Amino acid sequence: VNRLLLKHTLKLADSLGSTSVLADYASIDAPSYSDMGFLEHGLPQGPAKLVTMLGRCDALIIAVPEYNWSYPGSLKNIIDWISCLKPCPLAGLPILLLAASPSLQGGVKGLIHFRVPLDALGGLVYPRLFTVSDALNAVGEQGIAHERVADALKETVEGFLDYSKRLRRA
Ligand SMILES: Cc1cc2nc3c(=O)[nH]c(=O)nc-3n(C[C@H](O)[C@H](O)[C@H](O)COP(=O)(O)O)c2cc1C
Repeated sequence: VNRLLLKHTLKLADSLGSTSVLADYASIDAPSYSDMGFLEHGLPQGPAKLVTMLGRCDALIIAVPEYNWSYPGSLKNIIDWISCLKPCPLAGLPILLLAASPSLQGGVKGLIHFRVPLDALGGLVYPRLFTVSDALNAVGEQGIAHERVADALKETVEGFLDYSKRLRRA
């Protein structure tokens, strides 16, 4: 459901003038972070490819499933790898966070945790964290089932694109 939510969000962003590229963090092959690994071999291939993609982005939208009231360890591992680069490729990048969860709280606790390392690395997290609760019913192949949620997502994407443009100009 997080992939679907991301897909619908990128489609919306593209309908408003963006050109998005979808990447799946679960397919990024990254061994567990190690200082010695970085010192001896640099970034592994998966995180290095992500860094190249980030270099071409004006903004980033990430859909993050909530795992045990937090966010997936695999995602933290990728962030730890790319944080070795100075400057960090996330610094100064506008970032919109999304989560979809079958629960009634919609994964908001995961996003509050997830923004912390992004803040630490200078990522410019959009203050409105967008979550969808009851996601197995609310998010489908064809789109967002509930009109209120679909409207809120559109409003969020419009706000985020405006925020990104302002930051780029600043
Ligand atoms: C290990 C694990 C822990 C999870 N913990 C939570 C949780 O604490 N809160 C929550 O709302 N959903 C939790 N979920 C559900 C996920 O956030 C997610 O909504 C669910 O996997 C469906 O989304 P997906 O289709 O994108 O995987 C958990 C799922 C997994 C696999």
